Amino acid sequence: MTSHAPALPHNTPLPPDASLRQHALHLLLMYQTQDKAAAVLALDASGLRVDADARLDEPAGLPGRPARPELVHPSALKNRAVGTLEGRASLIHALAHIEANAIHLALDILWRFAGMPEAFYRDWWQVAQEEARHFELLETHLRTLGHAYGDFPAHDGLWDMAARTRTDLLARLALVPRTLEARGLDVTPAIRNKLVSVGDQAGAKILDVILRDEIGHVAIGNRWYHTLCAQRGLDPVKTYTELARQHAAPVAKGPFNLSARRAAGFNEAELSALAAEPLATT
Ligand SMILES: [Fe+2]
Ligand SMILES: [Fe+2]
Repeated sequence: MTSHAPALPHNTPLPPDASLRQHALHLLLMYQTQDKAAAVLALDASGLRVDADARLDEPAGLPGRPARPELVHPSALKNRAVGTLEGRASLIHALAHIEANAIHLALDILWRFAGMPEAFYRDWWQVAQEEARHFELLETHLRTLGHAYGDFPAHDGLWDMAARTRTDLLARLALVPRTLEARGLDVTPAIRNKLVSVGDQAGAKILDVILRDEIGHVAIGNRWYHTLCAQRGLDPVKTYTELARQHAAPVAKGPFNLSARRAAGFNEAELSALAAEPLATT
């Protein structure tokens, strides 16, 4: 049965029988990223009901975020040399910001889209917890470099795509996990090598954990994207191209990490389409 539930402010305790989806929305509203990541990791969701069919009202102010980092246009971000301490801290900060947004994206898909099987919500809860762990690993590493999350400006490209796909789960799956997170699979090995080249073995180890987990996140995105395409009788490759154009997804640029993408469930038709076709012009 469908039910409606208003969102409670993040500082109002949830009722004891709150569902996993209500918890996800509540966590998404929290302001402080460190507290949010810790709360996501501390919540044992195994005994919570999902309440898949409930329609939750969207509160104002999603996602909750701290006053810093300052959000700027990507072109306003400086590219600092990774060989300097400041440059390395800026790189680790950028990665931590991606993970902070990734926590938001996993929580958002979980609360926002009703009517999916229970396994869908359990999958995204696992993703939310892994993103929280990634954030904590990077933030802790950043502190060893004398900085904290918020010290550098950042851009908001990941959440922009979430906002653009707020009413369409198929587009969300196509363009967030299967495009933006998949892009992470392509670029992570080079960033890892950069860290190794400046002697940052600890940073490189964190990126190993992230790459392993992110293959799983993209795989989850692929699984549910294909499930929905099959249910709706849509061709997955053609539909992807259309959705990417419609929502002005970033152009997919090589080189692609084909082994990671294969491990994440992209099939050969999808990989060929990726390499052959510009996806969007804006
Ligand atoms: Fe992540
Ligand atoms: Fe992820």
